[in-house]
Amino acid sequence: MNIAANPVVEADQTVYLKDYQKPSFLVDSIELDIQAFDDRTQVNAKLAMQRQAAGDLILLGRDLELKSIAVNGRVLSETEYSLDTEQLVIANAPDQAVIETQVIIHPESNTQLEGLYKASSDLFVTQNEPEGFRKITFYPDRPDVLSVFTTRVEADKKFPVLLANGNLIEAGEAGEGRHYTVWQDPTKKPSYLFACVIGDLAVMKDHYVTSEGRNVALEIYAEEKDIPKCRIAMDALKHSMQWDEEHYGRAYDLDNYMIVATSAFNMGAMENKGLNIFNTSCVLADEEYTTDAAIMRVQSVIAHEYFHNWTGNRITCRDWFQLCLKEGLTVFRDQSFSEDLQSAAVQRIDDVAVLKAHQFPEDSGPLSHPPRPDHFVEINNFYTATVYEKGAEINRMMSTLLGKEKFRLGTDEYFKRHDGQAVTVEDWVAALTAGSGVNLASFLIWYNQPGTPKLEAQGEYDAATQTYRLSFKQSLKAHPKYPNLKAVPIPVALALFNAETGEQLTLNAAALFENGVKDGVYLFDQDQAEIEFTGVTVKPVVSLLRNFSAPVNLDFNYSDDELAFLMQYETNGFNQWQAAQTLLDRILLNDHAAEIYIQAMKNTVPDLIQKDPLLASRIFDVPSEGYLGSRIDENYNPAEIQEKRNALLELLAREFGSFCKEAYLELDPDTQKEFSQAMGVRALKNIMLSMMARLGDTEAFDLAHQQYQLTGNMSERLGALRVLVWNDAPQAKETLADFYDRFKDEALSLDQWFMVQAAHPKATAATLAYLTAHADYDLGVPNRIRSVSGGLNANPVNTWSFGVQHFINLAKYLDEKNPIVGSRLLQALSRWYTLAEPQRSAVKAELEALKPQVKSKNVSETLNSMLNV
Ligand code: BES
Ligand code: ZN
Repeated sequence: MNIAANPVVEADQTVYLKDYQKPSFLVDSIELDIQAFDDRTQVNAKLAMQRQAAGDLILLGRDLELKSIAVNGRVLSETEYSLDTEQLVIANAPDQAVIETQVIIHPESNTQLEGLYKASSDLFVTQNEPEGFRKITFYPDRPDVLSVFTTRVEADKKFPVLLANGNLIEAGEAGEGRHYTVWQDPTKKPSYLFACVIGDLAVMKDHYVTSEGRNVALEIYAEEKDIPKCRIAMDALKHSMQWDEEHYGRAYDLDNYMIVATSAFNMGAMENKGLNIFNTSCVLADEEYTTDAAIMRVQSVIAHEYFHNWTGNRITCRDWFQLCLKEGLTVFRDQSFSEDLQSAAVQRIDDVAVLKAHQFPEDSGPLSHPPRPDHFVEINNFYTATVYEKGAEINRMMSTLLGKEKFRLGTDEYFKRHDGQAVTVEDWVAALTAGSGVNLASFLIWYNQPGTPKLEAQGEYDAATQTYRLSFKQSLKAHPKYPNLKAVPIPVALALFNAETGEQLTLNAAALFENGVKDGVYLFDQDQAEIEFTGVTVKPVVSLLRNFSAPVNLDFNYSDDELAFLMQYETNGFNQWQAAQTLLDRILLNDHAAEIYIQAMKNTVPDLIQKDPLLASRIFDVPSEGYLGSRIDENYNPAEIQEKRNALLELLAREFGSFCKEAYLELDPDTQKEFSQAMGVRALKNIMLSMMARLGDTEAFDLAHQQYQLTGNMSERLGALRVLVWNDAPQAKETLADFYDRFKDEALSLDQWFMVQAAHPKATAATLAYLTAHADYDLGVPNRIRSVSGGLNANPVNTWSFGVQHFINLAKYLDEKNPIVGSRLLQALSRWYTLAEPQRSAVKAELEALKPQVKSKNVSETLNSMLNV
């Protein structure tokens, strides 16, 4: 073997944004030849390289067995290049260099699911973002090197499907029972977007004619039995293609678009040019086997990966520090798509709930970083809620501020300027600025510093002068690594309501303009400021940050009555929900009495159920124990939070007792015309069931059991199963066994079976041992690990007791087998330092003890950061 022993002692493996340098060589074209065998894969590559700056010719490569290398037709001897575990360097290379290499790789033993790997006995797939391509062949594997790819794929005929990016230009026999295909991708792309697939799969076909008249063949590849579950994804794909034409003027640019489903995938899905690879959980959707939430997720992930074709692929990132350029923008785009798909308010509620439950805690703890980080050890650790969700919020703020038309002028300018390029966040903001005519430069501050700003606001009404004054102040918690925190631009969407009638006040437009309030949005961009509304004839109720117009923690001294008022009268559905959430935060975290909230629910719910069942189902949201815990920075006692939350749920159940049963019996999803409202009705029915069951009502168990038996819909079936299992109903055991029998051959449904049991509030170490020892538990399949670990994590009391060992053991095991997933799962323990003693010290000791036992950059970096508080 030609892999050099690792002589390098990596003192500091940190990479810094400030050290960015252009590559010394570009690649005009690459010809790849991938020949798969049972025990190895041979990869031959021919790179036409050209110098663009001084320096060595550097090819990155990891775990590659080098068989030969030639430059401009001459084979190099070992003295003519240097090779270590990360790269191959040719000093003094000619300015025009055709590099030919032959390497052997081992996808059949690749458990890290990065590079080319065997996903099952009859499927090879690739995952190359961010740095997987270097595990396939030697290459300048960085996103600012764009090239034209021609790919030959060869394998045994037991794998009938041979795919790569672009157009199929040749296919034929390769002898000895083997065959091959050749694909050419006409658009230049970085190596992270390369994909190839070798397997035995069935396909669903369709087509779409673009606004430019291009007839695009659409294909979704999956196991034969799963093909009927591809319909929703296929329709979502066509819908996405049309949506991007209508909203961003972007049409698809190739004659085919392929999606391949695999159950062995670290992430949700990947946007490889013309050949997306998807986790089955993000492409297969079917009422019978997957939940409504999963169906919504499939549609949004399909849209997300499709939208990357322009925001990510045609225009890509200069370097991985710019990740939020493509991810933040594409998440904002997929969120907007989903807002059009269901109700805009409910989509916003769900997106903000994710932001607050994941990004806010991340940003207030040891893993906090700017949306555009300035250093990293392992880039895989930076596919975070901050890069994605906060990144999306920054784009949303700019779009809110500009309004639809100007934002479109800005994005048009971005596509015009940068098509075919690898660019930075600065380029994006500059293009938006130029296209819209509005200077957005100050939004760069958001990209460059960490932390969730606190927005303090105060309101004062002066009846004598009929003026209402609002003052604002912003601040950020000091951060040791970022001493120069600056004020950020905060768009504050607001409205005033008549406290007596509930009507929204129309405000004098000229006065608004003087105040800098335009279209109901005030841009607050200093440390402190004050605005004044005149001609306000009655004492108003102000609604701030409508639709969550900025990712900040709002601190406004609402009275509980004002919040109850907003629950009932605010016309922005998001702020209606937010008012309820703020009341609940006060009840659960600040010991407020619940009466006002209960009364407000009684005033709001009956009407809302009729008008908008989907929104009504969200109004019942009670913040999770995990979210509540994340709002506590010290002396956190999970059991205390659990107790308070349970007490409130019981109170709610008692107050809504008879209402629940009536509503349950009346609600019928089949009377709804739209899927989204039917989904709302199903959610409501499950809420009603669980409230009835909370009081130990045996009739509730019978109803749940009936619902379970009679339905063909997974949301109904699972909702009922949950109620039975979590309340230890007499029917629980039998129903779990029935579920297993029905769905044991359906991996995604079986994931739910594992999840329900792991998420039992009274799960114990024994429950966990039973599940992880089950014959269907598989440490090689991330989805299965996540179903159990995610279920467990639904109850912080369990996470912080027997769960600690579970997560530590997983991190230890996955450190070598699959460090990407290991590093992510370990983050379940990242808020250890907020725990009350003695738990705090106990978990800390466990984490310290793990340190010398892990080797991967992924897990070590995460662990080091976690302990650095
Ligand atoms: N480009 C990512 C996939 C990816 C993530 C590859 C991390 C390598 C490392 C893809 O576009 C993506 O963002 N997928 C998300 C789902 C999306 C809807 C936010 C995912 O996989 O979770
Ligand atoms: Zn993405």
